[in-house]
Amino acid sequence: MVAIRHEKPSDIAAREALLDLAYGAVRLTKPSERLRTGRRPADGLSFVAIEQGAVVGTVRLWEVSVGPDCPTLLLGPLAVHPDHRNRGIGSALMRRALREAGRRAHRAVLLVGDASYYGRFGFSAGQTAGLWLPGLAERHRLLSHEFVPGALDGVRGAIRAPKRRLRTPLEAVLAGLARPPKPLAA
Ligand SMILES: CC(C)(COP(=O)(O)OP(=O)(O)OC[C@H]1O[C@@H](n2cnc3c(N)ncnc32)[C@H](O)[C@@H]1OP(=O)(O)O)[C@@H](O)C(=O)NCCC(=O)NCCS
Repeated sequence: MVAIRHEKPSDIAAREALLDLAYGAVRLTKPSERLRTGRRPADGLSFVAIEQGAVVGTVRLWEVSVGPDCPTLLLGPLAVHPDHRNRGIGSALMRRALREAGRRAHRAVLLVGDASYYGRFGFSAGQTAGLWLPGLAERHRLLSHEFVPGALDGVRGAIRAPKRRLRTPLEAVLAGLARPPKPLAA
């Protein structure tokens, strides 16, 4: 049976391995990655799917902003282990992530992905025409889901990440951006 729960520091290595498997090394060159590099995910908005003690799915959300006053989240990456796909795990991760994100002050969620998949969770490209993600050529893949209807109406401009970047290796490990160091041999 699959359980969806908040990510723990002990899940980080397995999550990174899963993302490497699902997306390959190219994942670190994607335009949306520039908004994540050196930053923590939004507090309490990192989730894993666990089956028989193993991480088989992952999704995280990140704080970004668009326009002058529209606190927004960026969702991704979402990945499910190839051996566990088409069993509803990706959907369960999405539903849990959106449910918890919707209780926050954020007005909308953005992601870069296939509308053919994310449309089932209420995402579309209908409200993102005025938004710009540096480096993203496939503009039709920039999708949004509004928690507050009309939140993105008339909003134009670049999607921005918070200014602060992580400063110490420990912060990077806690944010899941780096693997914990191996214990020293005795
Ligand atoms: C996308 C992903 C997270 C879905 O996870 P999952 O656990 O298999 O998803 P679910 O079981 O909830 O849903 C499966 C359904 O989504 C469909 N689906 C999967 N990827 C899709 C895509 N890129 N476009 C459209 N539909 C897609 C499946 O065909 C299946 O359809 P069905 O319900 O009609 O049978 C998983 O395939 C994955 O990690 N892929 C690698 C990353 C990737 O390619 N992402 C592309 C999406 S942007």
